[in-house]
Amino acid sequence: MKFHIITFGCQMNVHDSQWLARALEARGWEEAAEDEATVYILNTCSVRDKPEQKVYSELGRIARHAKRDSRMFAAVGGCVAQQVGPEFFNRFPFVRLVFGTDGIANTPNALERLAEGAEDRVKLLDFMDIYPERDAAVDESTTLPETRQAFVNIMQGCDNFCAYCIVPYTRGRQKSRHPDAVVEECRALAANGVRELTLLGQNVNSFGMDSGGVDVSFAELLRRVAAIEGIDRLRFTTSHPKDIADEVIEAFGELDNLCPSLHLPMQAGSDAVLKAMRRKYDMERYLDIVDRLRQARPDICLTTDLIVGFPGETEQDFERTLEMVERVGFESSFSFKYSDRPGTASVNMEPKVDPTEAQSRLERLQELQNAITKQSLKKLVGLPAEVLVEGRSRKQEGDGVSWRGRDAAGRVVNFTSRRESLTGRIVPVRIVEAKKHSLTGERTGEPW
Ligand code: SAH
Ligand code: SF4
Ligand code: F3S
Repeated sequence: MKFHIITFGCQMNVHDSQWLARALEARGWEEAAEDEATVYILNTCSVRDKPEQKVYSELGRIARHAKRDSRMFAAVGGCVAQQVGPEFFNRFPFVRLVFGTDGIANTPNALERLAEGAEDRVKLLDFMDIYPERDAAVDESTTLPETRQAFVNIMQGCDNFCAYCIVPYTRGRQKSRHPDAVVEECRALAANGVRELTLLGQNVNSFGMDSGGVDVSFAELLRRVAAIEGIDRLRFTTSHPKDIADEVIEAFGELDNLCPSLHLPMQAGSDAVLKAMRRKYDMERYLDIVDRLRQARPDICLTTDLIVGFPGETEQDFERTLEMVERVGFESSFSFKYSDRPGTASVNMEPKVDPTEAQSRLERLQELQNAITKQSLKKLVGLPAEVLVEGRSRKQEGDGVSWRGRDAAGRVVNFTSRRESLTGRIVPVRIVEAKKHSLTGERTGEPW
């Protein structure tokens, strides 16, 4: 059976899709281009209205394949599936499976039964009380991506209920995965040649703090994974500032393979807005974390998420966000206009910010961020870096091959080499130029 997966949303969704593709391949299915597939899987995101609307337009678009092939059917998974549920069956008759994140472990079997005609429609939308383990992602025979990077889930769901956020409703309560299962998966990946691991969860800093019976802290888990042989680079995402432990901050100065970068969503710079958002920290606490992170690891690269136009945000509140973005000097940020999400607390909060005003705030913020990004990248010119090569650059010009990779902090670096295969290697370079969102390097060390 040929399948095609379309993924929206965060790294957790990307990882879920990768797992699903591997699990289907293990059953003899084959991933195919859109026009050749019989089964379409949409892994969806509901965090703002825009990605939700995209799901409906994608389904409208792939409906034409149902006319071409009567066996064709679609499965909708992820956060919109959890939110909208069986309503998809009514709106799009070719949708025959809806599955939430906790249902993903059973999705390959459900797809098989549907493809065999054993069942007509299936919904996997129940939340589990404990982390639902899936089939192992790898065994000795698995071929992993050449880039030698992998994601590992350490938890599912979120208990924070930030006022604007739909995730606790679509991903359910926080469930930490058993630490031994995490370590075992990381070991298996390392044994298969993976050298860069990213530990994933909506709020990794609260690992072990749910009722799942796990009594290992995130700092301890981090140490156990960092100690695995062959792991050159370790990252984790996402961190909530309220739960970051001193031991995690200190780990940045102690663990050699813990990458010098942290995505630490600030969301807003005004204490009043943070309070209304129910983020449970203020800027004093946030800035203290930043200072301590920089003490532990002076070259740490900080990035963030920001929302503009949260209900009640005044011009003064917004200016605090600008001030704080400048004060911290985030190397880059994702910034969003506030979007009302069904069932969240902020839907009922007033006054709503006028959409044109919110748009103008977003533009002002992004302009400031671009200037800071430019400055911080410029500071790296002349410095050495180690680049884990992810593949060939999109643009190929001049002599040799142009390669694209990431430095330890995750910045994109392009460089040229006469070598024909460098993917998955760590190559030493010196930064020679800063572009808008990337760096250019020159090889150093070996005469490549
Ligand atoms: N668990 C992560 C965030 C997941 S959602 C964390 O807590 O950091 C990713 C980002 O989307 C959030 O950080 C926030 O900036 C943004 N976001 C979430 N809900 C939103 C909404 N209703 N409107 C606009 N942006 C939103
Ligand atoms: Fe959403 Fe807040 Fe949970 Fe992040 S911590 S997923 S923003 S509720
Ligand atoms: Fe989107 Fe769900 Fe991730 S709403 S951001 S796919 S947790």
